[in-house]
Amino acid sequence: MSYEDAIEVDVIVVGSGAAGLTAALNLAAAGRSVLVLSKGDISAGSTSWAQGGIAAVLDEGDTYESHIEDTMVAGAGLNNRRTVEFVVEQAAIAIDRLARLGVPFNPGETVSERWHLTREGGHSVRRIVHVDDATGWAVQKTLERAALQKPDIRILPGHVAIDIITERHAEGVGFAERRAMGLYALNRESGHVRRLLGRAVVLATGGASRVYRFSTNPDGSTGDGIAMAWRAGCRVSNMEFNQFHPTCLYHPQVKNFLISEALRGEGGILRLPDGTAFMANHDSRLELAPRDIVARAIDAEMKRAGLAHVLLDMTHLEPRFIEQHFPTIVKRLRELGIDPVTQPIPVVPAAHYSCGGVLIDKHGRTDLPGLYAIGEVTQSGLHGANRLASNSLLECLVFGASAADDIIARFDETPEPVAVRPWDESRVTSSDEEVVVSHNWDELRRFMWDYVGIVRTDRRLERAAHRIALLRQEIAEYYSEFRVTPDLLELRNLVEVADLIVRSARERKESRGLHFTTDYPGLSDPPRDTILYPGLAG
Ligand code: FAD
Ligand code: SIN
Repeated sequence: MSYEDAIEVDVIVVGSGAAGLTAALNLAAAGRSVLVLSKGDISAGSTSWAQGGIAAVLDEGDTYESHIEDTMVAGAGLNNRRTVEFVVEQAAIAIDRLARLGVPFNPGETVSERWHLTREGGHSVRRIVHVDDATGWAVQKTLERAALQKPDIRILPGHVAIDIITERHAEGVGFAERRAMGLYALNRESGHVRRLLGRAVVLATGGASRVYRFSTNPDGSTGDGIAMAWRAGCRVSNMEFNQFHPTCLYHPQVKNFLISEALRGEGGILRLPDGTAFMANHDSRLELAPRDIVARAIDAEMKRAGLAHVLLDMTHLEPRFIEQHFPTIVKRLRELGIDPVTQPIPVVPAAHYSCGGVLIDKHGRTDLPGLYAIGEVTQSGLHGANRLASNSLLECLVFGASAADDIIARFDETPEPVAVRPWDESRVTSSDEEVVVSHNWDELRRFMWDYVGIVRTDRRLERAAHRIALLRQEIAEYYSEFRVTPDLLELRNLVEVADLIVRSARERKESRGLHFTTDYPGLSDPPRDTILYPGLAG
């Protein structure tokens, strides 16, 4: 089959971060042709920004049981134990695969230690492999290099996936044969929408933290995959669990620079502006308590004393130690006029990670046959109500491989793509009111931060729900009238995701993990995932 606007391959992978590239490399190794899409530059996802590292049981003194236990304690009763065991047991293999591809993990400091292991909050031992304080960049570049060398992998940057193609868009395919057959994607350069067709589609689109005003994430974390899967009829789960990283740099110009948890892992102390250390008032694990607790402690101190930020103090540590362990952070802070060797760093919590997402099984399968999801876009059962630090790159690597295995195993029995209708542009014109998009975008992020942030109440959630209903209607009208643009597509997805977050938060009448509401401060029993069914979509 050949359409001038269409590309046909075996498998389409949406996303060129750790999850997408891992899947693509594994698929290509089995001889499958793969198209990898990214909506901007190929390195622009969260993976490139990851600092701390990747968790794995690599030390003789560590055990699977301990990593599983730490993951489950952070997850506050909502992890799927079998998923946790699966991921923890695959971790060393995944790290070894990366090392063989060329990721230069920092070497160990003794002969018995292959790699240096750092520590982060919630981990009972040192178990994080890293590449200085820029692990994600090293992982991203290594995976990209490997993918670019594979003739079976075609990388298509600058293409924004819009929606999954299913039987609704195909000729002569009934509901009984419902499946994913590809997707429509907007070519940023030409402004045209193309059909990308394949026997399987893998969503590896990352998280949705940019739904909040303050975030550690790059611009593209707008929950596109979650919204696309939802519109295609897949369940989503646990969307209320938004992780706020405790320590994002507070700076008038630089809004989303992370100060890695590894700084607290190596002895950093949180202080009020007058120098008082405050974590002892909140948790016996002090600075190394799980992230939700540290973020809430900072939020409470800021609100109590009316502060714009708190401080992370490293000045009691050896200057050489700080410079050697955190070269990227030190360099960036010094460029901004803050020397962490002699000055405490101003920090605030910011939206960092989406624990909820598209519900998948161990093979990355969603509810729609032929549609897979992997990495931060998913709710795999690994994180529960709160993600343990450095478990997310690991999840990308493990599910990238397991989804590829499943696609390869089922490939011969999967139907070939059929004739699919081209994108209909006949009824739309270009907008002369781009301001509507930027205004709504701003408004959405602002009220999500104010009403659906670290501490929630029924009243605030209700307010957010009303605003979302208005915005949804306005954006839907705009979408049906005007030609699609990348900003409009992201806004349409953000409002969908905001709605899923607020609906999930309103369903949870307790405080668990990352969801904290003053109206229901206790836990209810038994612990339950929030699962939203697309048939009930408003
Ligand atoms: P991403 O790496 O975010 O990639 C998403 C991809 O999808 C991109 O290529 C994007 O272009 C593409 N995409 C999205 N929507 C579309 C669309 N509509 N059409 C086409 N393409 C699309 N985790 C750890 O385990 N350890 C750490 O130390 C760590 N540090 C972090 C530090 C920071 C500052 C941040 C932001 C995150 C950190 N995390 C860390 C979390 C971790 O980096 C992410 O969870 C992980 O990288 C997500 O990978 P991914 O492959 O799922 O998505
Ligand atoms: C960090 O370096 O603090 C981020 C680690 C993570 O998000 O897992």
